[in-house]
Amino acid sequence: MFLASQKVYVVNSPALVSQINRRQKVIDSNPPFLAVVHGKLFGFRDHDMAELMRTTTESGTLRRDSKVLEHTLLERGMAPLNEIFTRVMSGVADRLGTMAREGSITISLEAWLREIFTLSTADGVIGSQNPFTCDPNLLDTFWRFENGIKGLTMSLFPSLRAAGPSRARQRLVQAFTEFFQDDPTANGEICDFLRQVAGVARRYNRDVEYLARYFFAIFCAFLINTVPVTFWTIGHIVENPELLARIRAELAEVVGPMAEAEAGEPRHSFDVTAIRERCPLLMSTFNEVLRYVGASTSTLIVHEDVYIDEQYLLTKGALVQISATAIHSDPDVWGPNAADFDPERFLKPSKVHPSANRTFGGGSTLCPGRHLAADEILVFTAMFLHTFDVEFTAETPRLPRRDDTDMLSITKPTEDLMLRLSRRRATEKAS
Ligand code: HEM
Repeated sequence: MFLASQKVYVVNSPALVSQINRRQKVIDSNPPFLAVVHGKLFGFRDHDMAELMRTTTESGTLRRDSKVLEHTLLERGMAPLNEIFTRVMSGVADRLGTMAREGSITISLEAWLREIFTLSTADGVIGSQNPFTCDPNLLDTFWRFENGIKGLTMSLFPSLRAAGPSRARQRLVQAFTEFFQDDPTANGEICDFLRQVAGVARRYNRDVEYLARYFFAIFCAFLINTVPVTFWTIGHIVENPELLARIRAELAEVVGPMAEAEAGEPRHSFDVTAIRERCPLLMSTFNEVLRYVGASTSTLIVHEDVYIDEQYLLTKGALVQISATAIHSDPDVWGPNAADFDPERFLKPSKVHPSANRTFGGGSTLCPGRHLAADEILVFTAMFLHTFDVEFTAETPRLPRRDDTDMLSITKPTEDLMLRLSRRRATEKAS
């Protein structure tokens, strides 16, 4: 189809998607991704954009070296991934450990997840003296920015149409710049992942503002999709009492008591490998959430005329779009119940093409944080369900609908969900 005079190919077939993924040099997602994410969303300055866009076949580039390192350090089993996971989840555990001690409480799930994940991630990856501890108002500022992603990336005049989010971004970049004014790698608490990716930026002579925007961008990546996926995972499980009981029974087999803690209170350990291997229904529910709310749209540019599947000619200069929503809701791919949420879908043997799972993107902009995100969401959900009895409340008696208008990687809920929490008997004293 044509958008104005721009030719756009829309690809909805997983088999063709996988062929496109294999032609990354010719059908390239990098330039559109950099223009939208680094340029429009994070407002990198022109000379930084020029350095990021630089391509060469001979040596490395800032962009290529940063990406390779991000993917390497966040690969499953790598020490930097394990370090972030352990630090973030111990922050989460400490925060859950203090809740509902004096009786039941009501939370607004989305707002609560935003707070607990933002603060635990900031502590975990940047250290205890991070910008969010120094300025508690920054939490609201961060989610105000997140609320404006569509306005910042889609509107023609973002400083007018998305003035609030644009101001929020400025404040966050300022806070990150002040924080990282001194050599960030000299900060003993900063995680090894950030320390190493900062090294690449320094090799390419980037200054503190580049680092501040880059770290701010990475910080967003840690949170903006993990929070809504956790929201939907918990929401779908709690909405369905039978599913909740079956998942709790799976978890009871893998959640073990740890050695007595100093104060003599029992503590529990949540082993993500055991959850992956021995909680098939939780895993299936999680994968179904990823399918059901995954809505990323990848845009790629065709650098030269190329045939895919030996029959479709894609012409130089055209764009290719791959929409997760279209593929994830296609009955030809997922069967006649593609529109339904089926927590058991991934329990059954399936012939679905692997490229039909688009929640983490694909090809050259495949999400490097997908393993970390999955581990965090699974263990968070396990801790939450193991620690609390959870009920829907009269204010929000049903799970909200998906807001299909936002065009983000993960569809948000149309409204927040109020939940009543009380500590479960077995964990009243545990954390
Ligand atoms: C459920 C959680 C997550 C989802 C659904 C998700 C989804 C995505 C998607 C769809 C893209 C590709 C965007 C595009 O091609 O336009 C992406 C890229 C990226 N994600 Fe994630 N993500 C998640 C969590 C994370 C986490 C925890 C990190 C932590 C570091 C992360 C880091 C990144 C980075 C750095 C990129 C950019 C890749 C590049 O430069 O090419 N993501 N993510």
